[in-house]
Amino acid sequence: MTSQPLFTQEFWNNPHPVYAALRQEAPVHPVTLPNGIEIWLVTRYTDCKAALADPRLSKRQGAGDNARKLDAAVRNPLTRHLLANDPPDHTRLRRLVSKAFTTRRVEALRPRVQGLSAALIAPLREQDTANLVEDYAVHLPIQVICELLGVPVQDQTDFRRWTSVMVSATVSGAGIAEASAAFVGYLLQLIARKRTSPADDLLSALIATRDEGDRLSEDELTSMAFLLLLAGHETTVNLIGNGMYTLLTQPDAHRRLREDPALIPAAVEEFLRMESPVETATSRTATEPVTYGGVTVPAGAMVAISLLSADRDPDRFPSPDSFELDRPDNQHLAFGYGIHYCLGAPLARLEALIAFTDLLAAFPKMRLAVPPEELTWRPGTLIHGPTALPVLL
Ligand code: HEM
Repeated sequence: MTSQPLFTQEFWNNPHPVYAALRQEAPVHPVTLPNGIEIWLVTRYTDCKAALADPRLSKRQGAGDNARKLDAAVRNPLTRHLLANDPPDHTRLRRLVSKAFTTRRVEALRPRVQGLSAALIAPLREQDTANLVEDYAVHLPIQVICELLGVPVQDQTDFRRWTSVMVSATVSGAGIAEASAAFVGYLLQLIARKRTSPADDLLSALIATRDEGDRLSEDELTSMAFLLLLAGHETTVNLIGNGMYTLLTQPDAHRRLREDPALIPAAVEEFLRMESPVETATSRTATEPVTYGGVTVPAGAMVAISLLSADRDPDRFPSPDSFELDRPDNQHLAFGYGIHYCLGAPLARLEALIAFTDLLAAFPKMRLAVPPEELTWRPGTLIHGPTALPVLL
């Protein structure tokens, strides 16, 4: 056992020293999550990478720790998606979804993302201070995912409320059931509307997608829309927030990027590595005993893979706590690895490139308005990012 204080607000505010100790002392370690679930936490890069690609770890059995307690009418439309399935079902779903979610569709969004970013920055130019999370980072990914899927952007207040409850570590089971039921009801109506009046958007394309006579069922469609809306905004918000936090606490890197914006793509990879927006990958269940780093996880046990920890492992990344724009071979795990590798990675990278390009150009003198230690980071094992980022513009 480790004496490290896990899953307290102090931990969420700066989990890196705790993960460093775990990698040293207890790299594969049973812990109790804030919601009471017992899980084995894996923290070294090599073990995390092996676990992410391990077919003996099932996503289906681990399907949504919270979802398990829901009524079937709500559970099924939430758990028939890519991240709750193993091959062969996962293979089939991923093939169908990839036919609609193409590189061409992502690339076509570029001018829209630029327009949305410019519109968010315009009012900030009139201000001396801002909260970068609330005033910029939250809006860009939500507007982009709404645009991509064909979801009315004015509905964002509702589904932001539901999704933040669903990924929270602090809301009760009843709160999660209520938010889940409301979200499913909303998605069913939306899909029914798209069926009768399809448009040039991803949701209409998913409804129409056929693969050798195969197609997505109603539950699979609802689940996929749910996953894309959730994954499409809860994560990228924190890539923008965490990246700006990193720059505002690393003045040399900040200056280099302002002077040479061509370095921004490399910086984005380093932001992803240093402050992974997804703290631990979604949980998995061992279908048989599995051994990582000499420790055996018993059959039936759940496994949490800490991407945040893996990407700071000194055995894989020399000087892991320093921000290096020219870090060679930056194969971080922030987008996962193996068959569940993030489907939205090209979109996330596009949004990040535009966001950092625009923010650095518009506000070259931006600074944090509070000492970094005073920032509060989001509680919960899934998402890693500051709740607010007060800045002087
Ligand atoms: C910075 C932003 C993002 C990060 C850090 C991120 C991270 C991840 C990670 C770590 C996984 C694997 C989870 C696991 O194995 O348990 C994943 C899967 C996934 N992500 Fe992302 N993601 C981001 C943005 C997006 C966006 C914008 C979308 C969609 C528009 C998206 C859609 C998905 C989907 C559909 C999967 C499941 C793939 C599968 O199971 O085959 N993600 N993401």
